[in-house]
Amino acid sequence: MAQQDAAGGQEQALSALLHETRRFDPPPELAARANAQASIYEEAAADPAGWWAEQARRLDWETPFTEVLDWNLPDARWFYDGKLNASVNCVDRHVAAGKGDKVAFHWVGEPEGDTRTITYADLLEMVCKAANALTDLGVSAGDRVAIYMPMIPEAVVAMLACARIGAPHSVVFGGFSAEALSSRILDADCRTVITADGGYRRGAPSALKPHVDEALEQCPTVSTVLCVRRTGQEVEWTEGRDHWWHDVVDSASSTHEAAAFDAEHPLYLMYTSGTTAKPKGILHTTGGYLTHVAATHRLIFDVKPDEDVFWTAADIGWVTGHSYIVYGPLANGTTSVMYEGTPTAGGRDRWWRIVEDYKVTILYTAPTTIRTLMKWGEDLPAGHDLSSLRVLGSVGEPINPEAWMWYRKNVGRTRCPIVDTWWQTETGGILITPLPGITSTKPGAAMRPFPGISADVVDNDGRPVGNGEGGYLVITQPWPGMLRGIWGDHDRYVQTYWSRFPGMYFAGDGAKKDDDGDLWLLGRVDDVMNISGHRISTTEVEHALVGHPSVAEAAVVGASDETTGQAIVAFVTVKGNVAVEDESATEALVAELRQTVATTIGPIARPRQILLTPELPKTRSGKIMRRLLRDVAEHRELGDVTTLMDPTVVNMIGEKMREGEDET
Ligand code: WT7
Repeated sequence: MAQQDAAGGQEQALSALLHETRRFDPPPELAARANAQASIYEEAAADPAGWWAEQARRLDWETPFTEVLDWNLPDARWFYDGKLNASVNCVDRHVAAGKGDKVAFHWVGEPEGDTRTITYADLLEMVCKAANALTDLGVSAGDRVAIYMPMIPEAVVAMLACARIGAPHSVVFGGFSAEALSSRILDADCRTVITADGGYRRGAPSALKPHVDEALEQCPTVSTVLCVRRTGQEVEWTEGRDHWWHDVVDSASSTHEAAAFDAEHPLYLMYTSGTTAKPKGILHTTGGYLTHVAATHRLIFDVKPDEDVFWTAADIGWVTGHSYIVYGPLANGTTSVMYEGTPTAGGRDRWWRIVEDYKVTILYTAPTTIRTLMKWGEDLPAGHDLSSLRVLGSVGEPINPEAWMWYRKNVGRTRCPIVDTWWQTETGGILITPLPGITSTKPGAAMRPFPGISADVVDNDGRPVGNGEGGYLVITQPWPGMLRGIWGDHDRYVQTYWSRFPGMYFAGDGAKKDDDGDLWLLGRVDDVMNISGHRISTTEVEHALVGHPSVAEAAVVGASDETTGQAIVAFVTVKGNVAVEDESATEALVAELRQTVATTIGPIARPRQILLTPELPKTRSGKIMRRLLRDVAEHRELGDVTTLMDPTVVNMIGEKMREGEDET
């Protein structure tokens, strides 16, 4: 059953449901000014494809589409006889409309005072130069380009330059390891990598280029590396392969005639974790994706391009950054804040200073950050003028009602509607959310499908559940931003998303309809963990652990964590010849194992806790009982253990766990 398997936030959400009576109705003055009107749900439901086509017509099409949707389950093509250029839609058309002087990005570097202002005219010049430089370096339409960069304007420019010449980008989060980078480069057969010497994270320069050098030892077909100088740190240089951005881009021509591409031309790949050790290259295409992100950005955040300052506090290495830092806001000609660092860098009030300094009107972030800010107390936001804010968003994991209420009171000053937006790398854009001014909100609920989206909660057999019941979230009709496949693996695409419930997209999340029929997302029902809104598969971490010579077996679970939503807890058995008898040997090995995971995947995957245990609990058929381990990790009463091969194993692990915690 979904509820039993669903992780982390579920418990909180369920307890919230039990005590939940709170509901906030949109104030009429907000409704009167909102981009979306109350009739929007009905209008879209009457003709979803037609409604999306209307949204698509807000973009500039070089060849307007006449066909809206070709749905050959599970393969969709949207607006497929039309042609457009995503980069032109995000940049050129705003300059052509006389908005060249409008700010596209207020960029804020992590070091104090390190800021840049990029107007749409600046962006156009930078993107044209980069597009010319990439072309000169031999990149052409269809070639995949890996991007491994810090949060600097050049990262956005690199993405838009790739889009402009029809070369799908594959952005790899800068916090990933060399090994994670090389496997992604190899999977998509990228021949070009765009990177930087390093970036600033948590108050210090951190290196990127050395990771690229290490990764490329495994990738002989990469012929070109384009490197931005950001920190000025020393880097190794491979002549003939490596090029400085300031040499080849700055000297390139600033005019570039962009060709239009088919609506279904690949725009980008984004690797995300599934239930196996191998990340999936999620494929997004051009016309449908851009339509989806532009429409959701405009309607969900109620963006008025001439008034708003929009801030998605995320990294462009994740889909949130792609859709709501780059493509959505730029397609709508919005002014955004782009911040290089982490909320913890530069003082605990850094965020509130940014809101105050740039008069941010819309703030979009993850529950994990809200909980961190909450821990730091009410005084910090109270000490700043946050009166510019008018809409708040949440994304990435279930938001617990306490964090929601704190956000509403201390950041939104009870004035700002909160949109809890559910979506995934695969969905391209937001699918479930309230609309400000239109939809009532409840602390912890994502409420209802976006107009033009058909979602449901079904039971084990795929039958819709009634109000007040829980089950699995499914999407029942195609949507423009949907993934078009997994790179190089159509079977896995069908298997992962379209086989659990025939004819429906299976998201992998548990959900519940409350008594009013409003939707609550309850966390993953598969072996995917959600750490601070980052998706990491248990199998991937297990794989990394087993790669260590001392490890015999590993089982990994996501245990609920007050700040990060879930945290990684690993149970490890060592090989017979490895002696971990005394405490210091154990400690040393645990430290080494945590580091192994960080090196193999990236620091975000470093387990919170690793427990060395003589055995793992298994069923009689030899399957590791992860659910049980999760119970242990979360200190829950253990349920039925009779199918266990050796029930004493669990009790022993539970004891070890408690001992370990007493010490810390
Ligand atoms: C998974 C997708 C969406 C961009 C960032 C994460 C969880 C996401 C919510 C939300 C409850 C959420 C789901 C989903 N999730 N937003 N508002 N409420 N859960 O993208 O890495 O592809 O992860 O994040 O479990 O399946 P992602």
